[in-house]
Amino acid sequence: MTFSRRSVIALGLIISIGPLWGGITKTEAKPTIERQAFGKTADGAPIDLYTLTNDKGVEVRIMTYGGIVVSLQVPDRDGKLADVVLGYDNLEGYLRDNPYFGALIGRYGNRIAEGRFTLNGTSYQLAQNNGENHLHGGVVGFDKRIWKAKGVTSKDDVGLQLTYLSHDGEEGYPGNLSVTVVYMLTNNNELRIDYAAITDMDTIVNLTQHSYFNLAGAGTGNILSHELMLNADRFTPVDKGLIPTGELRSVRGTPMDFTKLTSIGARIDQQDEQLRFGLGYDHNWVLSNGGGKLALAARVIEPISGRVMEVYTTEPGIQFYSGNFLDGSIVGKGGEVYAHRYGFCLEAQHFPDSPNKPHFPSVVLHPGEKYRQTTIYKFSTE
Ligand code: GLA
Repeated sequence: MTFSRRSVIALGLIISIGPLWGGITKTEAKPTIERQAFGKTADGAPIDLYTLTNDKGVEVRIMTYGGIVVSLQVPDRDGKLADVVLGYDNLEGYLRDNPYFGALIGRYGNRIAEGRFTLNGTSYQLAQNNGENHLHGGVVGFDKRIWKAKGVTSKDDVGLQLTYLSHDGEEGYPGNLSVTVVYMLTNNNELRIDYAAITDMDTIVNLTQHSYFNLAGAGTGNILSHELMLNADRFTPVDKGLIPTGELRSVRGTPMDFTKLTSIGARIDQQDEQLRFGLGYDHNWVLSNGGGKLALAARVIEPISGRVMEVYTTEPGIQFYSGNFLDGSIVGKGGEVYAHRYGFCLEAQHFPDSPNKPHFPSVVLHPGEKYRQTTIYKFSTE
């Protein structure tokens, strides 16, 4: 599907309420997808921004640079919309300094120790972009690549399909990896993300999404009073460099226990080795449903606005990051300063450093197989 600049395509029903008294004609056309230019990269490559709107007025804007979710407007319990993801007003912000706001992450979300792993007896050295470790796909990960986009539709949903071909050797990874990510905005106020990938050589893959949420609205304050439930009895404890030790540890009796809704801030400053290493929460939880089929992973409630976000995923793990590295140096959308812990991430994924942990679920992809991952961020109120 091609779009002319600022063209609007009506993807749902076009409801025409005819002239009642020979008077006004009202035309509603929802859901919709609209494309606009969003500036150019330093190399002069044009970037597009797509606006998807469902029939409830929920709106998500996604750009072709990094497949980044630039904004996401969802209603509070009174129907008032707010943008619940951190980011920038313009492309320059993302190009200058982006701690992965809203981005697609690949080939490998999270860390690989010393950027090294062995596959079929061959050892590979990946980019080391986080101290000695590899993080989120390397120096120029999928978050900094330009994706090809096209609008996709189904009866009630509006979506954007993004594709990217990652070449053999990119950031040190073996094999040409062809990646497709589809963002769907449903009329149930869900942002559904379907990931798929194929390879021509044995390789590793672990894709995720790195939106920073604040359900009270981006830039309005910290996220410490949000209440969180994680559907997980265990987590993967880490060392100082945030590499898992390999243990799957019970959360019981620790500040990592979110089996019942608990405010993020309730225990974040406790004397605890894991919280000290993470500077707060920056850990992977082992989801109780084990991955493979779509299941509830997390529930978050912001008590004042009443906004609720649920995360469903097919992945075995989820990284909960409490925005510990935000330090007030970033001025985001609308000139708001993003201070310490102004956003949190829930990154559905395989466990960190899986290529070096044979007992963790495998992240190896062979030619002829298809990598798939589905994650849904579902919004409601209470
Ligand atoms: C992930 C990592 C964190 C941090 C953020 C981005 O969540 O686990 O340690 O790198 O991304 O700053």
